[in-house]
Amino acid sequence: MYKTEFTLDINGEKRTVYARNADTLLFVLREELGLTGAKPGCLNGDCGACTIDVDGDSMKSCLMLAIEAMDKKITTVEGLKNAPIQMQFIEKFAFQCGYCTPGFIMNCNSLIQKYPHADDVVIKDWLESNICRCTGYKEIEEAIKAVLSSAQTPH
Ligand code: FES
Ligand code: FES
Repeated sequence: MYKTEFTLDINGEKRTVYARNADTLLFVLREELGLTGAKPGCLNGDCGACTIDVDGDSMKSCLMLAIEAMDKKITTVEGLKNAPIQMQFIEKFAFQCGYCTPGFIMNCNSLIQKYPHADDVVIKDWLESNICRCTGYKEIEEAIKAVLSSAQTPH
């Protein structure tokens, strides 16, 4: 049998998959599990459209083998469920065609978790790992800043 059976922990659920050892996590998410939020773009780590979260770090799923993700906690954009950054992307019109958006949202969400006091320099540097062909990055930066500042405002 050329495929291996193993379990992945995705969005809080244990999912059994059958995959070749050489299958990327992006391929398995989309083709085996129907989680199509992570998008194929360049398939070589440059565009960030395939970004997901693995054990609290944003990860380009085209660069990771599915079998390497065993015993790790995976979150895809489907698992975010109305995270503040998703709402702010809508508020700030931070997308046009939307193809890059799931990857940006995952990467922005990771920034917000890791660096709640991120300044402009950190935000710009962090966004270097994702490419949008439609729009500027200003609205995306504004969405991040809106989430960061609301988290710092006492309610
Ligand atoms: S498809 Fe993974 S970085 Fe472009
Ligand atoms: S909104 Fe179209 S590629 Fe970013």
